[in-house]
Amino acid sequence: MIDFLLNRRSTPLKLMSSENGPSRDEINTILTAAARVPDHNKVFPWHFTVLQGEQRREAGHMIGDIYATKFPDAPTEKLSQVRDTFMRAHTVIIVTSRIREAGAPIWEQALSAGAASYNLCLAANAIGYGTNWLTEWYCFDDTVKKAFGLDERDHFAGFIYIGAQTEKPEDRDRPDLNAITTFWEKDKPLNKGDDYGRKGRGYPEDGFDFSKIKRG
Ligand SMILES: Cc1cc2nc3c(=O)[nH]c(=O)nc-3n(C[C@H](O)[C@H](O)[C@H](O)COP(=O)(O)O)c2cc1C
Repeated sequence: MIDFLLNRRSTPLKLMSSENGPSRDEINTILTAAARVPDHNKVFPWHFTVLQGEQRREAGHMIGDIYATKFPDAPTEKLSQVRDTFMRAHTVIIVTSRIREAGAPIWEQALSAGAASYNLCLAANAIGYGTNWLTEWYCFDDTVKKAFGLDERDHFAGFIYIGAQTEKPEDRDRPDLNAITTFWEKDKPLNKGDDYGRKGRGYPEDGFDFSKIKRG
């Protein structure tokens, strides 16, 4: 297990099969694992939507129509690319965070949806499939959210693309733990990693507003 965790990584879509992927039984296993995550107050603040087979095309056309309305001058090539969005993998599972009224703080419910998304990836990886957790433009579009049946309590946590790997991906850089970890001692500054990692992604001058869930 530790070896698995220390070597896991996402599979870029170009290295993922759109024809070979999980069966219904395997999806059942993957979703059972996804639903087995820490969740304060047992409110199950997430739900899953599976896109497979021709439904991937239909869903792609649905978001393609929305895109065409938003960008009437979009080139035909771009539109057909959007319509093929979900054809890039054998299976796409949408994890939606749904905030429950009598639950834990919203932040915690959202974190639980992240945990569900990640467990979903790990379970699919453990069965042998590649995964990629994406939130592209359609995750942040209110018309798309509505078209997929989401309401104001729902937010896409991610679209998890799943398929057999056609090639093993190369690894990418991993953080230096010393830059982001502190063994606490009173008055010792924390290693927060602010001068580390990708530059230009610091604290915005006007502060953060977590209620704005949109693409930055
Ligand atoms: C919530 C979330 C959304 C993401 N959305 C995208 C995305 O839209 N496009 C992208 O290239 N990577 C996205 N990623 C990153 C990939 O899922 C993946 O983590 C990344 O390629 C790093 O690979 P690794 O999982 O091997 O570390 C997202 C990750 C998270 C957690």
